[in-house]
Amino acid sequence: MNVPIKTPSEIEHMREAGRQAASVIEMITPLVQAGISTGEIDRLCHDYIVRELGSTPAPLNYHGFPKATCTSLNHVVCHGIPDDAKNLKKGDIMNLDITVKTRDGYHGDSSVMFVVGETIQGERLCRITQECLYKSIEWIKPGVRLSELAQVIQKHAEEHGYSVVRDFCGHGIGADFHEEPQFLHYDGYAPDADIKLAAGMCFTIEPMINVGGYRTKVLRDGWTAVTKDRSLSAQWEHTLLVTDEGVDVLTARSDEDFSFLTS
Ligand code: MF3
Ligand code: CO
Ligand code: CO
Repeated sequence: MNVPIKTPSEIEHMREAGRQAASVIEMITPLVQAGISTGEIDRLCHDYIVRELGSTPAPLNYHGFPKATCTSLNHVVCHGIPDDAKNLKKGDIMNLDITVKTRDGYHGDSSVMFVVGETIQGERLCRITQECLYKSIEWIKPGVRLSELAQVIQKHAEEHGYSVVRDFCGHGIGADFHEEPQFLHYDGYAPDADIKLAAGMCFTIEPMINVGGYRTKVLRDGWTAVTKDRSLSAQWEHTLLVTDEGVDVLTARSDEDFSFLTS
């Protein structure tokens, strides 16, 4: 396995791509409320990416994906297709996954959960899933194996009675949307599990955590992945750069505090 090490100039392009992806999420956040459709959310993100950022929404036409973003509601694990007929209602949880490709050709990939109205179970799942992401980020530094990050995620999820999705993984990212390595979020046999992090690697961590079992299936649209038992599912994602000192979160938003990484 040959994981690309980014050059200093590539790293600057990755920083810009990460900032752009974060800015899309910051732009749309106040508008994600009961009543808006996932199709409208997608349109607003699409137009912002193209008109304000001068970039491209990477999912659009990616292996035939029909929209600019992924909107995954409740028991949808990932790759939900935005739909003008699907309005958010109180009690829903939704993942919005944004991938921007900059004019320079680099990708920034990040996703967040929105809790619409109140749902105790949904809020707990979203919080624990975000903790899985943060705890694994905290471990990142040169020399650490991918499998060690996976163990942190799996342990935290299972301690709370949840399961880790096995069918989708994190990935290297750069001039390609998905490049090496493949990053599994559970500790299982995987070709890339023994890869050791090195400064200059860029990859995503994007754990998908289910209230019920880990099994998923893809609906007949060929994209929408749901939990097989129809239990609730959550996901958070960041694009990360391994540095000599540890890690930079390239898609960090202003609502996030990563000071725990330096303390
Ligand atoms: N953004 C997703 C990821 O985190 C991939 C979406 S691919 C698409 O890797 F085709 F569904 F958009
Ligand atoms: Co990703
Ligand atoms: Co993504």
